[in-house]
Amino acid sequence: MVSDAESRVAAQFRWQADACRALGSGLYGALLEQCADDLEHGGPTAEVVADHLELRRRDALPLRLMAGVHSIVLSGGAVDLAAYYPSAGGTAVDEEAAWRLLCDVLVEHRDAVRGWLDHPPQTNEVGRAAALAGGLRYLAAAAPSPIRLVEIGASAGLNLRADQFRIDGSASNGPPSSPLVMSDVWRGGAPPAANVEVVSRLGIDLAPIDPTTEEGALRLKAFVWADQADRFVRLEAALAVAQRIPADLRAGDAVEAVRRLVPADDTWTVLWHSVFRQYLDDDGLAALGEAIAALGETATQRARFAHLMLEPEPTSTPGAFPVVLTTWPGERREVLGTAPAHGIPVTWNCSPESLKSGGTT
Ligand SMILES: C[S@@+](CC[C@H](N)C(=O)[O-])C[C@H]1O[C@@H](n2cnc3c(N)ncnc32)[C@H](O)[C@@H]1O
Repeated sequence: MVSDAESRVAAQFRWQADACRALGSGLYGALLEQCADDLEHGGPTAEVVADHLELRRRDALPLRLMAGVHSIVLSGGAVDLAAYYPSAGGTAVDEEAAWRLLCDVLVEHRDAVRGWLDHPPQTNEVGRAAALAGGLRYLAAAAPSPIRLVEIGASAGLNLRADQFRIDGSASNGPPSSPLVMSDVWRGGAPPAANVEVVSRLGIDLAPIDPTTEEGALRLKAFVWADQADRFVRLEAALAVAQRIPADLRAGDAVEAVRRLVPADDTWTVLWHSVFRQYLDDDGLAALGEAIAALGETATQRARFAHLMLEPEPTSTPGAFPVVLTTWPGERREVLGTAPAHGIPVTWNCSPESLKSGGTT
C-alpha cells in the first residue's frame, strides 16, 4: 500500500525525470522514472527516501539521491554502474541494465546515499561564465578600468575566474593556455575585444564549497548529470583553473554582503550573480534590489559600479535567461543577450553602436 507521501514523492521523481530529459539527460530521465516506480512498489528507493518524504518539489530530493549515487560511482565504489556513466568513462548504453545496477547501489550504499539527502543540490555551472565574461568585456571596452569582481550565490566561486577561461570567438577571451576552453559560444554577435583586468575576486555563499579540495571537487562533480559530458569536462577544467587562480570565497548572506560593499576609486566594482535569485523570498528580493540601488547611488565617475546578472525572468522566453547589465553613475540598464540554463550558447544582442552611445563612457 503506497502512502500519500510516497505518491507525492514518486510524482516528484517523475517531474524531475521529465525535466532532466528536457535539459538533455536521457540517462537521468530513465533512471528517475524507474526510481518513481520502485518507490511505489516499496523497493530500495522507498527505503532510501523513507525519512525524507516531507521534502517539497523545490527541495529536489531526486537530484540529491542521484548525486549520492554519482559520488559513489566517481569514487570507484560502483564499478559496474560506472560502465553506464559517461562521467566515469562509461560507454555502455542500456537503461534497464543501468537501473538494475543503480538499485544494487541503493541497497549496498544505503546510508551513504541517505547522507546526501539532507543537503540541497549545489552546482556551480561553469558554462554561465561565458555570458558573464562577455559582460566584463563589454564594460572594459566602454570604460577601461581594473575590475573588482564580487559574486553573490557564488557556490564554489569557479566563475569568479571567468576572465581566465578561454572563450573562443571573433575576439577571444582568456589566456590560450587556459585548461578551460569553450568554443562555439556566441550566436548573433559577440562581445567586443577588450583588455579585462580583474584585480580582486570575492565570492559570497551561504554554503561555500572549496573547489581546491578533493571533497569539494567531488561534491561539485556529483551534482552534474552523469551523461552530460560537456558540463562535466568544463567543470573539471574550471577546477584546474581554480587551483592556479585564487579567489576569496566567504560564507555569508548575499544581501548583507552587498550592503557592506563600497565602490573604490579608479576601478569598476562589478557585482554579479547567476541562477541565484530563486533562492530568495519576496522580502529577500526586495532587500537585494534596495541594497544594489543604494550601492549604485554611491558610485562616481572615478569609482564606478556595475550589476550584471544571468537570471530567469518570468516574462522571458523559457530557456532564454536575459543577461542584464546596469551601470552607475547614471543607472543605465541594458539587456546584453540571452543564455540557456546551463549557459551555452549565448545569444549576444548588443551592437557596437550601443556600446559607443552608452552612458558608461
Ligand atoms: C544554483 S546555485 C548557483 C551558483 C552559481 N551562481 C552558478 O551559476 O553556478 C545558487 C547558490 O546560491 C546560494 N545561496 C542561496 N541563498 C543565498 C543567500 N541568501 N546568500 C548567499 N548565497 C545564497 C546557494 O548556497 C547556492 O550555492
